[in-house]
Amino acid sequence: MTVNKPETFKIDNITAKDMDDEKLVTYPTDAFLSKEYLEAEKKLLWPKVWQMVERETDLPNPGDWLTYNVADESIIVLRNGDGALKAFHNVCPHRGRQLVDTPDGVHDVRGNARKNFVCGFHGWTFDLDGNNTYILDPQDWKGYLNPDNTCLSEVQVDTWGGYIYINMDPDCVSLKEWMGRAGEILDHFELDKMRYKWRQWSVYPCNWKVALEAFLEPYHVAGTHTQLLAYGDYYALSKQYGLHSVSSYDTRDEKFKMSESAGTTRAGKGDDARVSTYELIRENYETVNYSASTETLVNAASRLVDELPEDTPPAEIIAHWMASAKRDDAERGVIWPEVPPEIMQESGLAWGLFPNQNILHGVTFALCYRVRPWGDDPNQCLFESYALERFPEGEEPETEWVFAERTPENWGSVLMQDFSNMEFVQKGMKSSGFRGVQPNPHQEQKVINLHRNLADFMEGRGAPRLLEEE
Ligand code: FES
Ligand SMILES: [Fe+2]
Repeated sequence: MTVNKPETFKIDNITAKDMDDEKLVTYPTDAFLSKEYLEAEKKLLWPKVWQMVERETDLPNPGDWLTYNVADESIIVLRNGDGALKAFHNVCPHRGRQLVDTPDGVHDVRGNARKNFVCGFHGWTFDLDGNNTYILDPQDWKGYLNPDNTCLSEVQVDTWGGYIYINMDPDCVSLKEWMGRAGEILDHFELDKMRYKWRQWSVYPCNWKVALEAFLEPYHVAGTHTQLLAYGDYYALSKQYGLHSVSSYDTRDEKFKMSESAGTTRAGKGDDARVSTYELIRENYETVNYSASTETLVNAASRLVDELPEDTPPAEIIAHWMASAKRDDAERGVIWPEVPPEIMQESGLAWGLFPNQNILHGVTFALCYRVRPWGDDPNQCLFESYALERFPEGEEPETEWVFAERTPENWGSVLMQDFSNMEFVQKGMKSSGFRGVQPNPHQEQKVINLHRNLADFMEGRGAPRLLEEE
């Protein structure tokens, strides 16, 4: 993946190989704290990257539309009369009024059965392909107006994994190229066949990267989610995949390594793995707001103790558990995708998709996050979390974006623990006594990779540098 940057601009940045070699790095706090950095993001980052807008299922019919807002940009995404997805900058080419009002504080604006967009200021009108269809008194311009200078400004739109993506840069690489190997691996999980289970948003007192990073690495589990240590160990590895990156469970001791331990479905620790596997999955499910697993998986795990002898090895427990959950799901019409074992292994636990999307995936579910700037304040962000699941056809729940204050009732106790760090990371990094970040090169590589890629877009701002060369 190459990123367009001026020929003369030499960015001093770490390389993908530095990351693979797990070199020690640090990077400045500008990306989190600096107003200048936030302003530069508006020019250098958001207009240049593929970014996820919404699930495709939210725009099923011709005339369905919604706005996607990020920093100072607002984009209208819609299905035109032919049912094709289209995206346009939300601005009237006459004197610059937003076509659709997006007041401060709204998540998005959306609607159905649109035939056209009429500007509220002087009535210029546009069809669903962005063409201008009405101007009052065009003769006053003495022949200057033409279809090109009176149409809406179009934005690239594409889909992947059941998501709609946009890119404002007309010269950008294709979405397929952007997703790269990460996209190919996740394709096996058929995210496009999953549907929202719940979706919530809120505004948090920290930079969008602080919030994103709170969910990028499992290195924090032992310190933040102490209660989960009773059920499993959380040693992690992480790896860059170009723009994107993955984390997996690892083991400190080679002899305990097994292929089943990489993802969300793994054996618990303890004397009786039948019991601890169930306890691990149930605890995760119930305290992470009924996500990161499914009812089927939890129920099948609850039967392990009845269905298997006490001394069954962990690998066989997992295999039995998966086979019975798969059967249970098939009976209710939920067919699991066939994910080859080597892909399952490589797919790990969770993906960070550049710039602002996290996906913790399973065969029939995903727990996901997205974070964006909020207003012009580097100390605030719009945080979203949502669960996807594969449902029997016709049994998909009706959901919409719900504003959810930070309470345990809204988010579950585990996410509350994550939230409890974010505000105080934002505050702590401002300390004159902070000597700079020292991320774990093995377990927190996703965080480092985020900053490496950001620096490539941000003309070198915030670039990580090697500590060992000092
Ligand atoms: S600004 Fe839209 S018609 Fe004038
Ligand atoms: Fe966490």
